[in-house]
Amino acid sequence: MSKLIVVANRLPVQAEKTDGQIDFRHSPGGLATGLSSLPDTYEHLWIGWPGVPRDELDADDQKDITDKLKKMGSHPVFLSCQDMEDYYRGFCNETIWPLFHYFPLRTIFEERFWRRYKDVNKRFCDEVVRFVKPGDYVWVHDYQLMLLPQMVRERIPDAQICYFLHIPFPSFELFRLLPWREELLEGLLGSDLIGFHTYDYVRHFLSSVTRITALEHSLGKLTVGNRVVNVDAFPMGINYEKYAGASETEEVKQAVAEIRQKVGDSKVIVSIDRLDYTKGIIERLDAFNQFLTENPDYRGKVTMIIVAVPSRTGVPDYMDLRNDLDQLVGRVNGEHGTIGWMPVWYLYRGIRLQKLVALYDIADMALVTPLRDGMNLIAKEFIASKIDGKGVLILSEMAGAASELGEAIIVNPYNSQEIVDAIKAGLEMPVEEQIDRNRIMQKRLSRYDVARWAADVLKGLLEITKVQKEFTVHALDSRVRRKMVSRFAEATRPLLMLDFEGTLAKFHKRPERAGPDAQIRRILTNLADDARAEVVVMGGRDRHTMEKWFGNMNLSLVAEHGAWIKELGGRWECVEPLHSEWKGTIRPIMQLYTDRTPGSSIEEKDFSLVWHFGRAVPELIDTRIQELRDALLNLTTNMDVGVFEGSRTLEVKDLGINKGRVAEKWLTKDKWDFILAVGNDYTDEDMFSVLPKKGYSIIVGTEISKARYNIESIKQVRALLNEMAEVEHAKS
Ligand code: G6P
Repeated sequence: MSKLIVVANRLPVQAEKTDGQIDFRHSPGGLATGLSSLPDTYEHLWIGWPGVPRDELDADDQKDITDKLKKMGSHPVFLSCQDMEDYYRGFCNETIWPLFHYFPLRTIFEERFWRRYKDVNKRFCDEVVRFVKPGDYVWVHDYQLMLLPQMVRERIPDAQICYFLHIPFPSFELFRLLPWREELLEGLLGSDLIGFHTYDYVRHFLSSVTRITALEHSLGKLTVGNRVVNVDAFPMGINYEKYAGASETEEVKQAVAEIRQKVGDSKVIVSIDRLDYTKGIIERLDAFNQFLTENPDYRGKVTMIIVAVPSRTGVPDYMDLRNDLDQLVGRVNGEHGTIGWMPVWYLYRGIRLQKLVALYDIADMALVTPLRDGMNLIAKEFIASKIDGKGVLILSEMAGAASELGEAIIVNPYNSQEIVDAIKAGLEMPVEEQIDRNRIMQKRLSRYDVARWAADVLKGLLEITKVQKEFTVHALDSRVRRKMVSRFAEATRPLLMLDFEGTLAKFHKRPERAGPDAQIRRILTNLADDARAEVVVMGGRDRHTMEKWFGNMNLSLVAEHGAWIKELGGRWECVEPLHSEWKGTIRPIMQLYTDRTPGSSIEEKDFSLVWHFGRAVPELIDTRIQELRDALLNLTTNMDVGVFEGSRTLEVKDLGINKGRVAEKWLTKDKWDFILAVGNDYTDEDMFSVLPKKGYSIIVGTEISKARYNIESIKQVRALLNEMAEVEHAKS
């Protein structure tokens, strides 16, 4: 049976050491419930930190914890106090957490934190790889383990990995501040599936990837080396039934009665969060204070119950927040309270489920106004708990949950007047309206609950790994490769047709950086010096550039994707009569778009014009390409030219230009007993399609192609050609 290995910083149970004795406490987070409701198709294993620093545990304790956790389906990664200091408190909660929640000024960039983060991720990886067997699934959670997917991928290349981020993924403008942004993206891209709560986070992530790594995506699918990585939104749900059913229990009824006795017939507003500056608790209380000032009639008639669950108490910002909140509660109560009425009740502690549901049950209103929040499950739990449908949810537009709970009163948490008005409107909202709004949300939440969420993520992983497997069917594996190299070695008259940029070397827009480097020169020279072989380098550049780059080598050359050819020892010839007068019409419109799009440029060749937009801002480009493509298609309807979209290019060229025709010319020239064609884009497809069956055709990347095989990268192409050249060398 396949295993599902869930990796998260925290395990669903936390160990505690009291008086030398190890005990376990359940931390029943949403995640544990969601995963426990998955069908029994998978055996589960959790890997995570057990909650006690290693420094407090001797060898026997560690063994004891490991053994006991094993019985609970978990496995520990022990972390020291120093790890907790630099990895958890430092990088996780003083770097990633504030930055990803849009608090750049609270963010600390500290090399020491980063080093420890890498180190701890590596230790997680060491434990994970011990358990992964073929067919298993690895599901990595949250910002504490962003490097883990790639680390596991390196050790187990065909592992099936998904990653879910529970916090927001910030816009590129924030993410770019991170000194280690590339490494973090690389870490995440080791996954097969990357999930976020909302489509906005997906967008932000993809835009960071396109800008930082220069990878491109199509409908959320990124091609990374020889893999496809899918990026999608999966809004996490709650265990709906648990909350919907809970208020019926005796325990909850009793808790409700107790609270009711204390607050009398005052209306109740609840505010429940971990004590965290991202939750906007201070701002919320300020707004309540303002509400009481502006609406004196409500004094004595409404009570706010604040539950702040202690969290990350070692982080200075959290300590400061605690003090600030203490003071503010005192101030509001001092200013507005009377002998019989305390406007704010404040609890700084964790609460049990029954108490929590009792609070939801009794509340006329929940104020959920985080300044930023990945999802916020409190808002969802509150709605689910309202069996009679009565109650008002005021929800921040900065919470991921807002995209699913549009029937709540949505507010900007930074706009105190808006919150004040929302409190008033909510307290005065007719009951029928409350019920109408809540019923719609309840329906949605009960449909997309946590079990459905977990099942959807895993379904997404299964789908993408299926695509992955299809790709590997075409990948040039070592067996085919060996056979190919030996056929080449045995051949008496081999032909190699090699595209240059994108295949043998990276495409550089600036001509001064482009061209063959020493390594590819050496490889091509070795191949070309082989008297049996003819090597044709087929470039997209103009013939002058091709001549400059390769003129002094024993090669046949093709320029402008087939407009010009130069046979070994011969001179440049135009393949057939081609036209260029159309350029006068096309050039001005391309120029207009170049002027309007910083980072783009025009390359002019004899029979084609290419618009390059490699360095332009991706979001701008999408619209621009569409506009320009439409304009060009319109202009060229009556001309013998075609408009082609390449890799970060839009090219207009004479339709007579075709690498396929050129390839045919070479194919019929001699009796070849070995043929290899390698390319990387649409211009090479024409060449692949004219190749005889026994020929080898290879495309770089994972595109669906007419080529027989896919190869991962330029580096791999070079390695292959080098191997071929060496075999020949060894023979001679
Ligand atoms: C957020 C994070 C979780 C984290 C939780 C509690 O919900 O997304 O990954 O576990 O806060 O924070 P803590 O630092 O106590 O684990």
